[in-house]
Amino acid sequence: MITFIRKLVAIILSALSICFSPIFGDFTADTTVQKDNCKLNFAAISDIHMTEETARRDMLRFGLEDMQSFSDELDALLLAGDLTDHGEESEWEMLKEAFSGYTPAKNLIIAQGNHDTWTEDDKYDLARTYFIKYNKDISGREIENEYYSTEINGYTFIVLASETDRTSAYISDAQLSWLSAEMAKAAEKDLPIFVVCHWPINQTHGLPETWGEDDMEPDDGGIGDQSAKVEEILKSYENVFMITGHIHSGFSNDSQKNTNGYVSVESDGSFHSVNLPSYMYLTIRGRIANGTGFTFEVYENEVILRARSFSAGVWYTDYNWTIELV
Ligand SMILES: [Fe+2]
Repeated sequence: MITFIRKLVAIILSALSICFSPIFGDFTADTTVQKDNCKLNFAAISDIHMTEETARRDMLRFGLEDMQSFSDELDALLLAGDLTDHGEESEWEMLKEAFSGYTPAKNLIIAQGNHDTWTEDDKYDLARTYFIKYNKDISGREIENEYYSTEINGYTFIVLASETDRTSAYISDAQLSWLSAEMAKAAEKDLPIFVVCHWPINQTHGLPETWGEDDMEPDDGGIGDQSAKVEEILKSYENVFMITGHIHSGFSNDSQKNTNGYVSVESDGSFHSVNLPSYMYLTIRGRIANGTGFTFEVYENEVILRARSFSAGVWYTDYNWTIELV
């Protein structure tokens, strides 16, 4: 009964947020960074789910145009998986077309999601081939594996991937070993480390309840079998930001935790888990808006997360976080 009431309240509040979003959203704040000496400024979105529908292409373009117009040019745009709806080549082509003519940021970082592992033939190897090919076509980045790392303004970004075509992830022992080595190397810089993984750690951000309605297994909606191993590796280091998508929940802040059943940003003071809303789909949970994501402003002693609908050009200041670095 409590679960039912909580869901009902969440639905009502979400509906209200649609009606009053122009009031609660901040259309007026500009797109300059919040403070001087910003060392890294990037946007992160997830779950574009591109199909052949031009409406989806245009929804993405609204956001790209917004990012491109930022007063302080973004150092990067990070895409946290499910770029396509079924991993089909025609959908990758539409995604490429959407980016054509736009420069939303100096760099693009593209991560794979479970929907990108499917394809018209249900062949993972083909999905992997598409991911590597279109990563180069869209971002200009040449990668050998579906998981890779890169460096922007001296900060390390580690991008994880699944190596099979199921809904949860499969992260091989080889990838786990690679992750351990990459984390050790990144930690030598004594800077925050950004890890992009479409799937959250199991049982975070309200999982498994936030993944569906009925018959949820405890680890549903998360990485799955290798979740504990990934978590152990990441939590061995300080100032780690794990950026995920997959759940399709809207923004939810600390004061809404009891109502919505989750918070978008979970932190133990050193490991910070950031779950991005779905860019393309609305949700019954949390703040309803599409075209949403966070910007990350990285300073010497803190990281500021700002929630925005990039498609509407609106900041949602109720969902901003300032995270002190240790
Ligand atoms: Fe998705």
